[in-house]
Amino acid sequence: MDVMLELETRRQAAREGGGQRRVDAQHGKGKLTARERVELLLDEGSFEEFDMFVAHRCTDFGMETDRPAGDGVVTGWGTINGRMVYVFSQDFTVFGGSLSETHAKKICKIMDMAIQNGAPVIGINDSGGARIQEGVASLAGYAEVFQRNIMASGVVPQISLIMGPCAGGAVYSPAMTDFIFMVKDSSYMFVTGPDVVKTVTNEVVSAEELGGASTHTKKSSVADGAYENDLEMLAEARRLFDFLPLNNRQKAPVRPFFDDPARIESSLDTLIPDNPNQPYDMKELIHKIADEGDFFEIQRDYAANIITGFVRLEGQTVGVVANQPMVLAGCLDIDASRKAARFVRFCDAFEIPILTLVDVPGFLPGVAQELGGVIKHGAKLLFAYGEATVPKVTVITRKAYGGAYDVMASKHLRGDFNYAWPTAEIAVMGAKGAVEILYRSELGDKDKIAARVKEYETRFANPFVAAEKGFIDEVIHPQSTRKRVARAFASLRGKKLSNPWKKHDNIPL
Ligand code: HXC
Repeated sequence: MDVMLELETRRQAAREGGGQRRVDAQHGKGKLTARERVELLLDEGSFEEFDMFVAHRCTDFGMETDRPAGDGVVTGWGTINGRMVYVFSQDFTVFGGSLSETHAKKICKIMDMAIQNGAPVIGINDSGGARIQEGVASLAGYAEVFQRNIMASGVVPQISLIMGPCAGGAVYSPAMTDFIFMVKDSSYMFVTGPDVVKTVTNEVVSAEELGGASTHTKKSSVADGAYENDLEMLAEARRLFDFLPLNNRQKAPVRPFFDDPARIESSLDTLIPDNPNQPYDMKELIHKIADEGDFFEIQRDYAANIITGFVRLEGQTVGVVANQPMVLAGCLDIDASRKAARFVRFCDAFEIPILTLVDVPGFLPGVAQELGGVIKHGAKLLFAYGEATVPKVTVITRKAYGGAYDVMASKHLRGDFNYAWPTAEIAVMGAKGAVEILYRSELGDKDKIAARVKEYETRFANPFVAAEKGFIDEVIHPQSTRKRVARAFASLRGKKLSNPWKKHDNIPL
């Protein structure tokens, strides 16, 4: 009986983390504890803990007298809606969640198992960074984690939840995972904090401005989503998880659906305004195509001229990439290209089919874009689409001009189904621009130019020239888009396509 008692006593001590005072301080900041977060993230009662009794081995700075069980991180596995996931959750109440040699070993252990057994890893980050008392042993621990992030990339999905400080080199572990979520006001990420910034560059900046959720979801694009509090984030992480496969050898889960795949949406017939320069909300189309209108958006607040996220069709996950005419007229620019390229590569790595909705007047012109390297960044999206071997279905709703036509999952980049609405305009450029180049000498004569524009529009501002060449497989009624797209993906479930052997490609990074 004594041993049973000892087990319970030890377990209880481990569960208490850094003690009630520190737990209260954590709650006082509006943050849940490491264990509370795991409980909420996973299905009730599903968590199986590893290494609850692991303690650090540091003997410097009097650390030998303070060896809390678990060493500042809770690790193990459990399920989300019945599907397996490995989890680590840093405990800020124990040495500020700082990473020691043994803390790192615990994380590495579950990452190794995740890679071997084919289940995703969700990391909950809440840490003061490298355990200062351990010096280089802690840095080594980080690098061991980094190496595993890299090995796991493209093998199992990795999700990082930033729920407290994440600073110094520590940010590079989340940075190499597939998705990063941040909690508003209580989390931040930066390589060097405000004090160091002040010393080195004389810039005065708050932690929030430098690395808060708003900064990283709106400006830097480091993070993919910002949430109000711990509860909302954990619920959303579960929602995202449900869209994803467990690993790169399995398909995403098929969920029961209660939405007719052949559902007709008459309202889509009038989605495109009569005036070609008037915007409309592409999200309306996404919601109307999706099962039950459910859309999980990735990077909603960054480069809103392109939309990325997940929907389901007939219960199966589909990645959506769509130009948004409401922002910058839906132009592709540096930010949009980077955002969408990363999303397309995630989908391709994990066998998630891609639906592309196109209304793009071209690449955004401008000195800033050219000097910023739009050539190379735009090429990322082109490259990502071209190398992707997953089923690709494209619908052109309106404009598909110039290079952007090619980029947006065109037939020529191995698009499987390339549909166009009757309102599609597929051309090298818009009519006005084209006429100004072709008929420069007539520019003084307004009537003549108007007639030329009309002529150009009649000839090219439609989907039929492309359809005659077979670049568009079919011109479809907008109202039947869900049905056509769902059938297309259904027909592609057996698709097998591979690229030539290579060690790896050289995507223009
Ligand atoms: C050891 C740490 C710690 C650390 C915090 N603590 N950070 N212990 N190593 N890195 C401990 C504190 O001593 C304190 O212990 C408890 O955690 C809570 O810390 P507070 O400072 O009281 O909390 P708060 O005021 O909320 O401030 C949080 C913080 C601050 C902003 C994170 O603690 C901080 O600045 N820590 C140092 C951050 C840092 O410089 N880390 C190294 C970065 S370099 P008690 O016993 O009082 O509860 C790095 C390199 C990684 O990480 C490289 C990878 C390649």
